[in-house]
Formats: sequence, C-alpha cells, structure tokens
Amino acid sequence: MLRERFKHYVAKMFRRVFAERIAVDLGTVNTLIYTEKRGIVLNEPSTIAVNKYTGQLITVGHEALNMLGREPIDTIVHRPMRDGTIADFDLAEKMLHEFFRRANIGSISKKGKLLHIVTATPSMSTSVERRALKAAVRGAGARWISMIEEGLAAAVGAEAILGNANAHMVVDIGGGTTNIIIASASGIIKSSSIPVAGNELNQAIIELLSRKYRLEIGEQAAESIKMKLATALEPISKEEMGIIGKSVPGHSVKEVFLTSIEVFQAIEKFLQAIINEIRTVLEQTAPNVAVDIYNYGIVLTGGGALVRNLDKRLSQEFTLPVHVAERPLEAVVKGAGKLMAYDNLLEQYKIREETLEWEGANAPSYGVVN
Ligand SMILES: Nc1ncnc2c1ncn2[C@@H]1O[C@H](COP(=O)(O)OP(=O)(O)OP(=O)(O)O)[C@@H](O)[C@H]1O
Ligand SMILES: [Mg+2]
Repeated sequence: MLRERFKHYVAKMFRRVFAERIAVDLGTVNTLIYTEKRGIVLNEPSTIAVNKYTGQLITVGHEALNMLGREPIDTIVHRPMRDGTIADFDLAEKMLHEFFRRANIGSISKKGKLLHIVTATPSMSTSVERRALKAAVRGAGARWISMIEEGLAAAVGAEAILGNANAHMVVDIGGGTTNIIIASASGIIKSSSIPVAGNELNQAIIELLSRKYRLEIGEQAAESIKMKLATALEPISKEEMGIIGKSVPGHSVKEVFLTSIEVFQAIEKFLQAIINEIRTVLEQTAPNVAVDIYNYGIVLTGGGALVRNLDKRLSQEFTLPVHVAERPLEAVVKGAGKLMAYDNLLEQYKIREETLEWEGANAPSYGVVN
C-alpha cells in the first residue's frame, strides 16, 4: 500500500517537472486548443479533407470546411466527431495531429517536456467512447491524458463554480450535445447530456425546406439561415430571407422565401427536448441546491447558447434568471485550461474510469491519468 502510494507520488512529481499541460476541446463542430502560456492557440472546425483513393490528408479545419459541398472529384470532407464523441477514429487522430502541428505543439516541447492533455467528454459518453478519445489524443502525441466532464469544464470556463460553495447550473449547448450540469466548487452534484444541439436545428431547417418547398440546401446554408432567422421565442413580427437552392426533383436552381416563424416552428421540437432535459435535472435536485439555482440562475455556454432569445425562453420556462456566458464557444477549453493549472483540482474533477473486467487490474496504463 505504502509502496503504491510512493510510486504514485513519484509519478506525480515526474509529471509536474516534465509535463507541458495543454487543454483540448475536441467538439462535434469546433476544436479548440489552449496552452497555459499562449491561451487559445487554435480554434477551427472539426473537419478534415482527405484523398478519396489514398486516404492522404489534404487539409483540416476552415480550409476543409470551405470545401464541403464543393469537393474536387478525388477529395472527401469528413466530420470525424458525432454527438461529442469520435465517429471515425483514424480521421479524428489525423485531424488532431494536424491541429497540434498547426498550433506548434510537438509531443516533446522545446524545453524537453512531454504532453499532458486535459480534455473534455459529454457525461453520456460510454467508456468505449472515452477510450477512443484517449487513444486518439495519445496517437496525436500525448504522453498523459486527463479527462473531465464537458459540462464541468464549461462551468469552470464560465467562471460559475470555482471558489464558490453554492450550487450552480450550467447548460452547454454545442453542435452535437447539450450538457447540463449542477456543480459547486466541491464537484458535480448532478449532470446529464443529450444528443440534441445546434446540428439538430440545422437539420430541422434542411428538412423544412425540402418538405415544404422541395428545395435542397447545403449544411453551411442551413447554418447561416439559423444564425439569421432562428429564435427560441415565437417571433412577434416575421422576418424573411431569400434562400437559393437546388429544386428537387430536377436540376434547376430556385429561390424561396423563408420566415422566422417557419424556422421557429421547425426547431421548436428540439428546443423542447433541451427544455425537458433541463426540467428533469432540476426536478431531481435537493432543496438546498434548488435554492442556490433560484438565486444564481442558469448560465448558458456553447455555440447553441447564441440562438436568439434562448436565454429569455429558458428564463420564462423556469422562472429563473438565465445568462449567456462571455465568449460561450470558448468556455469548455478555457475551463479545462483553468483546471489544468491546479493539480488538486484536476485530481478532484477528473473522470475516474473503472478498469474493465477483461483488462484486469494489471492492464497497461499507457500513461493515462484517469
Ligand atoms: N450565433 C449563433 N447562433 C446560433 N447558433 C450558433 C451561433 N454561433 C454558433 N452556433 C452554433 O453552435 C454550434 C457549435 O458550438 P460549439 O463549438 O460549442 O459546439 P461543439 O463544442 O463543437 O459541439 P459539442 O460540444 O456538441 O461536441 C453549432 O451548431 C453552431 O451552429
Ligand atoms: Mg462542446
């Protein structure tokens, strides 16, 4: 027992001296990388373009996303993340490797330090999905990996919980997942995540245009319609936008006019799913926690927090104050970055995975800090 503790202590000291800590938010839509000294060093779409025949990397991030829908014949653009977890392992690893290279992060730093990556995962991710994430991060050059819940990272990044004994509720609405968390400085009180977020809203707009107007549009077009017309409260006056797309069936191009009311109706089902999940979490809270949330309200993070009037809608639904965090898209990586600076906090908040039966107690750890 004493020997084990000593070994653990030596490993910890070794890491403290030889590790360079970096926070990575490998999101469904966006990937962000944060270093202690340089802050956010990379913020790119989680997209990769590869040669269709050889699998060779062409480009990643913004450049790859700009190709989407206009790919040359030999190119295929992928989004290797789905619902906050890895959908295509090889591509996710390749993409992350290229992001590290772009951010000037090597597996050994100029000072001879090894990479200790702190990363986030939705609370609903399975242990297999977490292992895939660890393996991809390791493949991209990490020597040690610590994983925290995405909602918790968002709460720390939004400055909702550190140094505060009261309970706070944070809802992180990303592209693939909505993470709901109630936490205090002592840790997670309740967390939940559902695979409903910004991407579902885009999909609802694509389906609306296809069903009602027989118009086919690309993902990027749906994204800009959402940014312009989507609102979480029924619009009082209707805003209109001309949408040009491909007429189906056929091959002609046509323009239709879409209103904010139609978009509101199309996305309502998904907003309702998010509201229902928040309600379920709230219903399960203890009285003291409920009082804290009543006092402090709900903080929104993630890109989905920027849907117009979402804060007002949630405020009406729950009769609580609701605030959108400053720079909501950066909250998760900043929270992970903040936690990585404190050994005790990282230790306290990291996800502890049980060893799977088939791995046995002596399974190789690959330097993973669970
Ligand atoms: N102004 C805006 N209005 C509405 N939605 C927005 C706005 N800006 C960004 N978004 C949406 O936010 C989502 C991306 O947010 P974010 O980067 O937090 O997701 P992610 O972290 O990649 O996904 P996840 O956490 O689910 O893995 C996209 O669906 C995008 O359309
Ligand atoms: Mg996210």
